[in-house]
Amino acid sequence: MQRILIDTDPGVDDAYAIILAMRSPELHVAAITTVCGNVPVNQGTQNLLTILGLLDLDEFPAFAQGEAAPLVKPLVTAAHVHGDDGLGNTSHLRNTDGGPLYPPADTDLASISGVDLILEMAERYPDELIIVALGPLTNLAKAIRKDAAKMRKVRKIIMMGGVFEEYGNVTTTAEFNTFVDPHAAQEVFQFGVPVQIVPLDATHQVVLTRDRLHAELENRADKVSRFLWDATQACMEFYRQHVGFWGFHIHDALPVAMLTHPDYFESVDAYVQVETVGDLTSGVMVADLRPERQHSNPNAQVCVTVAADAFLDHFFERLR
Ligand code: BDR
Ligand code: CA
Repeated sequence: MQRILIDTDPGVDDAYAIILAMRSPELHVAAITTVCGNVPVNQGTQNLLTILGLLDLDEFPAFAQGEAAPLVKPLVTAAHVHGDDGLGNTSHLRNTDGGPLYPPADTDLASISGVDLILEMAERYPDELIIVALGPLTNLAKAIRKDAAKMRKVRKIIMMGGVFEEYGNVTTTAEFNTFVDPHAAQEVFQFGVPVQIVPLDATHQVVLTRDRLHAELENRADKVSRFLWDATQACMEFYRQHVGFWGFHIHDALPVAMLTHPDYFESVDAYVQVETVGDLTSGVMVADLRPERQHSNPNAQVCVTVAADAFLDHFFERLR
C-alpha cells in the first residue's frame, strides 16, 4: 500500500481526485492539506470538508489548512470554471428541510498549518510518503524553505500542472497551477526530490463528455454520484461555451490513477524549469521532451500519453 498526502485547492476536479484516492485500496491517504488556488484557502478547506462529508468515513485523514497566498504573485482564482464556491455552487443547494444538501463533515481541522502537517508526515513516514499535489505548489515550497532536511525524506511528488506542447488554460501560454505560483513550482523542481508531472498535454487526452457522465451517474442514488453530477454542471457549461465540447477534463484525478495504475501512463525524463519573470509567459513550464535531446541530469518525469478509455473505465469502476 502506498502512503500519500494530498495537497489540493478544491476544485471540482480535485473533488474527483480525492474521491478516487479515498476509493483506492492501493492507497492510504494519511493526510490532506489545502492551498489557495481555484478558490481562497478558507473556501478550499470548507470544500474539503464537504467532499469528506460525502464519504461516510469512520476515520478521517489528518487535514490542515495551508497557505492563503502564492509566494510572490497576488492570488488568481478560477471561480469562472469551478463556480463561486469552487464546487459548482453546490453549497447553495438545500434539502427539503432547508439544511444543506451536501453538509460538510463534522470533524475538526488540525490546529497546525498545512506546511507543518506536510513536514510532520514527511518525518513520520521517511522515504515512504508520496505527495500528490493538485494545486499551486505554495505549501510544498514553503515546507522546503522551512525544513529542507525533513522534505528530503519525501519519496516523491506527483503533481498535476504545466503544459508543454499546447496552449495554456489560464493564459495563452500557462496552465493554471503553475501560473498561480510559478516561483513555488520552480523551487520545488530545483529541490531534488523526484517529481512526476501530469501536464495539460496528458490530461486533455481524457475527455469526459456530458453524455458519458450522465450515463454513468443517471441511475445512481448514492450521495457521491449525485454530488458529482451537481458539482460538474457549472464546469460543463464553461467547457461548452469556451473549450468546445460539452463535458470536462478531470485533470487532478490522473496523478491518483498514475499511482495505482502506472500501466495507463507513459512518461519521459526531462529537465523542467518554470518561467517566473516573463510578462507573457509567467508560469510556463520549459523542457525539451525530445528523446534525442535528453538532459544528462533530469529532475522530473513528464507524462506524455494516457490510456484514456482505460482510465475513465477505471474511474467509474471505483465509483461503483
Ligand atoms: C488545474 O487547475 C485547476 O483549476 C484544476 O483543479 C487543476 O488542478 C488544471 O489546469
Ligand atoms: Ca486543482
